[in-house]
Amino acid sequence: MKVSVKVPATSANIGPGFDCLGLALPIYNTITIEETVLPGTGIEINMISEDAADEMIFDDIPKDENNIVYKAVEMLYNSIGQEPSELKINIQSQIPITRGLGSSAAVIVGGLIAANKLLGSPADETALLSIATEVEGHPDNVAPAILGGFVLSSQEDDGSITYRKLNWPEEWDITVCIPDFELSTNIARSVLPEAVPMQDAVYNAKHLAMLIEAVNTKDEKLMKTALHDKLHQPYREKLVPGMKEIMEAFKHEDGVLGCVLSGAGPTLLIISHKYDLDKIKSTVREIWEPQSVKVDIRTLKVEPEGAQVLE
Ligand code: HSE
Repeated sequence: MKVSVKVPATSANIGPGFDCLGLALPIYNTITIEETVLPGTGIEINMISEDAADEMIFDDIPKDENNIVYKAVEMLYNSIGQEPSELKINIQSQIPITRGLGSSAAVIVGGLIAANKLLGSPADETALLSIATEVEGHPDNVAPAILGGFVLSSQEDDGSITYRKLNWPEEWDITVCIPDFELSTNIARSVLPEAVPMQDAVYNAKHLAMLIEAVNTKDEKLMKTALHDKLHQPYREKLVPGMKEIMEAFKHEDGVLGCVLSGAGPTLLIISHKYDLDKIKSTVREIWEPQSVKVDIRTLKVEPEGAQVLE
């Protein structure tokens, strides 16, 4: 038996929502899992991308028990007292890898949902989210990958996940600017401090609260203030050349609600309303291209649907 699951890309953090906010975007990976009947064939993991650069990254990704998709699937089997044996995992990838668009969350979620279907759906949404968070380390990408839309999520002290889907204002455009250099989440997390000053923690708490209110009431003025962060972006700035200049360039533009790092970066996400999208593109290119950074810029709507089993 074989099951395929299509999973959207995700952008996490959205400024002050470090490790707890994320939204789904219409770029997809498709993960297929096949339980082979021939004993002794073991695990087979194949990855295909249209992007030659991603194909090169695939070479460095483990294709055995250490693969994150396999780990997630194994945890699901173990949770019902079983062991996975002969599995063939195929990943068709359109989500750029190591760019802050949730490619790892997508494959973890896709693997889990496919395996769950193969097993007769023993795990519910909460259980799948919990396993996915354990493998990924934080819930902010895996939650919108499963649920779609704009999602607030938190891993509680007892390991349980609290999550709510919120309404993203449809009229707010999202432009993702994907540079041609990689930044691994591990590196982007390694530059974060162990502890932050109390005033920075308070700053983010205030701005996250403002952001939720701004989204709920479609308050653009409040959103523009809310999208500021002191917990991760200032530390990651040094890893993303041009980020500071691009953020600065949009700061005082009417119609641009904000420019933030997508997840751990290096992709930048620009939120705007009735703003000239060509101007966004030219401003970003004018800053990145002289620094020899090629950039793929796409204006997208939030994907309302989460992972889907393909029939
Ligand atoms: N919240 C995570 C981080 C997202 O910023 O490190 C990583 O994809």
